[in-house]
This record gives sequence, structure tokens and C-alpha cells, in this order.
Amino acid sequence: MAIISYLLGSISFSIIFTKKFNKVDIRSMGSGNAGATNVLRSVGTKAAIFTFIFDFAKGAVSVIIGKEIFGFICTMTGASPIIAQYGAYIAGVACVIGHIYPVYFDFKGGKGVLTSAAMIALIDWRVFLIVISVFIILFLTTRIVSLSSMSAAASFPVATFLITYFIDYRNADASAGPVTLTYVWVTSAIALIMAFTIIYEHRANIERIKNGTEKKLTINHKS
Ligand code: G3P
Repeated sequence: MAIISYLLGSISFSIIFTKKFNKVDIRSMGSGNAGATNVLRSVGTKAAIFTFIFDFAKGAVSVIIGKEIFGFICTMTGASPIIAQYGAYIAGVACVIGHIYPVYFDFKGGKGVLTSAAMIALIDWRVFLIVISVFIILFLTTRIVSLSSMSAAASFPVATFLITYFIDYRNADASAGPVTLTYVWVTSAIALIMAFTIIYEHRANIERIKNGTEKKLTINHKS
């Protein structure tokens, strides 16, 4: 399941769409990032929308596969349904790793923001609501996508802990099934590692933010 999700995540749609339709390698343009933001900035709206949809979809599909497979095992073995959530995390993380280090594209992919967002949305909409709110607030105030992404990433472990511990763990009727302390710690730790990874992937952006050279989002209207 993890291998399938990794291979799915490795399909870097920004590289595929911009190569096919614009005959360019997005990794040698703009910020050099293989992601929807850079496509929007360097290529155009159409390619960016397609990249956005497909990069989001691969994260969502991976999580659904993980949830379904682990959910099936839970039903067969009588295990707690919360175990299915672990399946979702494993598949989601594998997909994000594939997006950042794609096996088909010399292991040079994106920063994992959108694919992680899809993973979070499919795993827990409450955490997603917090993370996306942080992103939107930062973006509306700064217009810098990288800063918004990093702030949203930083809020991911905090939101995961607050929701799983203070709401789910103390509520025996949680929709995902009875939540254990192990689940709280494991999922918060995964979220923390993902946040660090995403921020680390933005190291060039951090340098530019420090130098005052990080660009606000502009849209290439040519195509
Ligand atoms: O999702 C990536 C975004 O946070 C930054 O993209 O192209 O500005 O490096 P970019």
C-alpha cells in the first residue's frame, strides 16, 4: 500500500503538464519548484489549475486506498476502526514522500504542500479547517505563498494534537472510533515530522524571505 502510494505521489503533474503542453521543465523556471504555485507564476492559469487538481487528487486517492485497506482488515479481524486511520496516515505520508522525491523524475519534485493538504483534508476535516485558515490568513496579509505554506505546516502538529487529545481522546464516541493515547502521540509525531520536512523543503524560500527577495504571488496571464 505504501509503495503504491509512493509511486502515485511520484507522478509529478506540474512536470508532466508543463512538459507536455508548454514544452518546458518547470524545475528550471521561477522558483524551480515542481508545484502549482510555480506553475501559476511561471507558466499560466490553465496548467496551474490542472496541476492543483491532480496533485490534490493523488493525495486524496492515496488516503482513501489506505483507509479502505486498513478498514477492511479491521472488519475482518474485529480490530478497532481507529486502526483504519493509521492506514490513511501511512498511505498519505508515502504519497507526500513520492511528491517530494519522485522516482520518475530524478527524485526532484515539489515541496509537498498541496499533497499534504489533500492528506489532511481526507484524514480529519477539523484539522484541515485550522490549517487552511492559517494558510488563508497568512496569504491574505502577505501574498507570499511559501510563508503561508510554512505557517500552515507549523500549525498541523498543533492542530492534530489539540483535536485528537482534547476532543477525540476525551470523547469515547469519536466518529473515527475510540481514540487511544498512542494514537494521539503517533499522529501528532507524524504531523510534526511532516511539518519539519515541509519547512526544510522551503529553505531556499526562507533565505529569500530573510533577504527580502521572496516574491509575492503573481499570475502569468500569457497562457
Ligand atoms: O507549495 C509550494 C509553495 O509553498 C512555495 O512555492 O514556487 O514559491 O517556491 P514556490
